[in-house]
Amino acid sequence: MANLLEKENFDHQAVVPCPYQADCSGCQSLGVPYGAQIELKKEQLKQLFRASNLLSSSPIQALSAGPGFLRDRLDFSLEDGRLGLYHKGKREIVDIATCCQLSPELSAWLTEFREFQWPFKKGSIRLRVGPQGQKGVWLDFANVDIKALLDEKTLLRRLQDKAFVEIGQRRKVPFWNGQEYKLRAPELHVWFQTWMGSRPVDLYCQVASFTQPSLRANKVICDVINAWIASFPRSRIIEFGSGIGNLTLPTLAAAESVLACEIDELSLDGLRMTLDHLPSDLQHLKSKIEIHRGDFQKKLTEDFSQFDGVLANPPRSGLMNFLNPLGELSLEKRPPFFIYMSCFPESMVKDLERLQEFGYELRETFIVDQFPQTNHYEVLGLLQRKQS
Ligand SMILES: C[S@@+](CC[C@H](N)C(=O)[O-])C[C@H]1O[C@@H](n2cnc3c(N)ncnc32)[C@H](O)[C@@H]1O
Repeated sequence: MANLLEKENFDHQAVVPCPYQADCSGCQSLGVPYGAQIELKKEQLKQLFRASNLLSSSPIQALSAGPGFLRDRLDFSLEDGRLGLYHKGKREIVDIATCCQLSPELSAWLTEFREFQWPFKKGSIRLRVGPQGQKGVWLDFANVDIKALLDEKTLLRRLQDKAFVEIGQRRKVPFWNGQEYKLRAPELHVWFQTWMGSRPVDLYCQVASFTQPSLRANKVICDVINAWIASFPRSRIIEFGSGIGNLTLPTLAAAESVLACEIDELSLDGLRMTLDHLPSDLQHLKSKIEIHRGDFQKKLTEDFSQFDGVLANPPRSGLMNFLNPLGELSLEKRPPFFIYMSCFPESMVKDLERLQEFGYELRETFIVDQFPQTNHYEVLGLLQRKQS
């Protein structure tokens, strides 16, 4: 891990400027030097560990891709002509023209997007830039507003000249059939990128799909996962929450096989398309992966004793019943290692308590600060089973 730790060389004194600091609720730590923000996050996690009697054989380390300007997707609300995030003190939207969270590419896209005037009272908007700078937008408006947008034509036409457009909860794609605008089924395109060591791999998904927030910070995450998996050669991995395969590919780079368990069919469509489009020298990886769709927080029917390692990246609610079958196995039948990644340390700590009861010890913990200037952070933990 020595090469990863070098990334602790971030600018401790950095303070990121924001013209909306007094009003916008998006960031909570603006004005606090970046090194102090990191120390606070480490301390908070330490306290959570302590309160749950979680023992760790090494101190928490922090990795960062920078104190700001990381995000490649944003979710803003539109209300009464204002586009931005909620006000700290009032129930209204702060109109945001520039944001210190955005990558330069996303910032430029926001500037362009703000030239559009939206005739609707309210809605949600996601802007995204892909790894090659492609621009995307997901418009989530009321049905009546979507119909008005399709009927009006010119706004949509101008927007499609600039970017790929998705509409509504069903992420449909508007198209002109020669007479009128219609909506067709969601489409998969390359909106994100993962890493197999130093090699980037394109990931297919939708503008509206779940991805990590930042291409740059994601490289740091993938490097940790890749290095940990590589330290257990030829392992058979079961993965909870593969999504579009962001951690699956860095894992496949070093593992013998991966069983990817995921609830969301659209994400799995993306993962399948990614596998189909792998460059020819990576095509062999397809035979190393099996995909299972289901609600694995409810029940897991797989036998954990068939795996050498678990990789879990659950939603905020944590792993829930996924862990139950571990308790039914004797210690030596449990997978020797468990990698847990979470953006919600409170539920992670609850799951780690159970894993400690099942004989796992926390060996390494990293905070990956992919949400600088806020209270949020990603936690990556490597646990190893005690020898029987
Ligand atoms: C934090 S995301 C991680 C996705 C992926 N690992 C990544 O880095 O992009 C959590 C994933 O867990 C999936 N998920 C949520 N509830 C689930 C459940 N009950 N069973 C299986 N997967 C679930 C979500 O659909 C999502 O893809």
